[in-house]
Amino acid sequence: MGKTIIISNRLPVQLQISNGAITAIPSVGGLATGMKSVHSGGDSLWIGWSGLTEEDISPELEPKIDVALAEHGSSKVKLTEEEVDGFYYGFSNRTIWPLFHYFLEYSEFQLDYWNTYKKVNQKFADAILENAEDGDTIWVHDYQLMLVPQMVRKERPNVSIGFFLHIPFPSFEIFRTLPWREELLKGVLGSDLIGFHTYDYERHFLSSVRRLLGLEVSFNDISMGDRLIKVDSFPMGIDYNKFSDAAKIHYNKAESEQSELQQRLNTHKKTDPEAKFFLSIDRLDYSKGIAKRLYAFEYFLNKYPQYKEKVRLIILAVPSRSNVPQYQLLKREIDELVGRINGEFSTVSWTPIWYFYRSMPFENLIDLYTSSDIAWLTPLRDGMNLVAKEYIATRTDKTGVLILSEMAGSANEMNESLLINPNNFEQTADALHEAINMPVEEQKARNSILQKRLARYNVEKWANDFMTSLKSQNEREAANV
Ligand code: UDP
Ligand code: G6P
Repeated sequence: MGKTIIISNRLPVQLQISNGAITAIPSVGGLATGMKSVHSGGDSLWIGWSGLTEEDISPELEPKIDVALAEHGSSKVKLTEEEVDGFYYGFSNRTIWPLFHYFLEYSEFQLDYWNTYKKVNQKFADAILENAEDGDTIWVHDYQLMLVPQMVRKERPNVSIGFFLHIPFPSFEIFRTLPWREELLKGVLGSDLIGFHTYDYERHFLSSVRRLLGLEVSFNDISMGDRLIKVDSFPMGIDYNKFSDAAKIHYNKAESEQSELQQRLNTHKKTDPEAKFFLSIDRLDYSKGIAKRLYAFEYFLNKYPQYKEKVRLIILAVPSRSNVPQYQLLKREIDELVGRINGEFSTVSWTPIWYFYRSMPFENLIDLYTSSDIAWLTPLRDGMNLVAKEYIATRTDKTGVLILSEMAGSANEMNESLLINPNNFEQTADALHEAINMPVEEQKARNSILQKRLARYNVEKWANDFMTSLKSQNEREAANV
């Protein structure tokens, strides 16, 4: 059995250099947090970008960087500042990301971004070709690397390649607006197996393949020359035990062992035991609907004034892609909205919104999940949304209410939560009211079902299902069925 090569733009850790010392910081985002659990359990090599540019890496530092990455089973692809600009901030996050999340008006179609995307995808493909041996399995991840499967296939026709898209695949009417639409599809079709989080994304992809490339599609098989490519949906799970075990340990801690954040949360709970905490955790991204959520919160406080001084919204917004103008504008909009709503409603003893703009260590995420009565997640579009699953996994006493946008991929598996359309403030305000008043027995009944499902379809099962399907696809191809 060969090894598995995982390849994604983000590695499980990001390196930072300060005064010649290298620090490895855990990467944020569903791909990195999910795959980290899969990677640590098996014999795999993870290839990706270290977060540093070639300009940051001196010849003296390079061996140390390689050692730091090797400790995480990782190996780097070196990118220049210019490449990071055109490939990462450019084509990946100013073209594909907005387009695939239905923010057509944010998508920029610039030829130089596209050219750098192609060049950098070739660098990633070359890194695979340098490391891959016969019998290895290559698992390519996400929208930053859509050309890689075909680039590898060209050089190694017999290698086994899987591709997984962690974001939505949009409907044909959206995808067709991309000037390089055929090239992207052909790039992905270098794989033997192509995976999506949901059946809808899979259907959209197949429809684009049929209509733009004219290929024959039968159920979820695509025929391309003498090759057969399988397309399927694999909803990504979480490392369920990691979250539920951490929560159990958390609940057993004496107050003196608790984090400072937890002690502050306790103080507020003690002051008013009836008060409710609403929680949202997202990267600061326009797809997450953070601004809409703030407007909806204001609407809620006006519609149900009895909850003034009784509820508190905790927003953890993790800095993300801050070189992209839309993210800078959003940051300003959220700063202003939080300021305005707090200014409008605060009293001497109550601030309605607590806003953290940073990433938090795992321990503090557990503090927030376990202390919040309601998780309120309102993406306008989201490939999956693992935060929703993590919240439920930490509710070991089965209390807590999840209010989740229908537009999140995870909504398909979380019917027992309160599903809302984030554009509908009336419905959202009513869902908050319902959540506050939901009897504990009902909370437990809903969460029991959710927890069982999440524990069963965890991230390990997701990865195994994908790998098993890839293997059987290779066997089918070999038998030319
Ligand atoms: N997360 C983190 N640090 C933080 C906040 C969030 O590591 O300070 C993690 C969170 O636990 C989750 C991931 O980031 O696993 C976010 O994944 P999700 O699928 O919800 O959204 P994405 O960022 O991938 O769009
Ligand atoms: C989403 C994407 C990932 C990405 C993550 C964080 O989960 O699907 O590919 O790594 O967001 O974004 P970043 O741009 O910081 O890698």
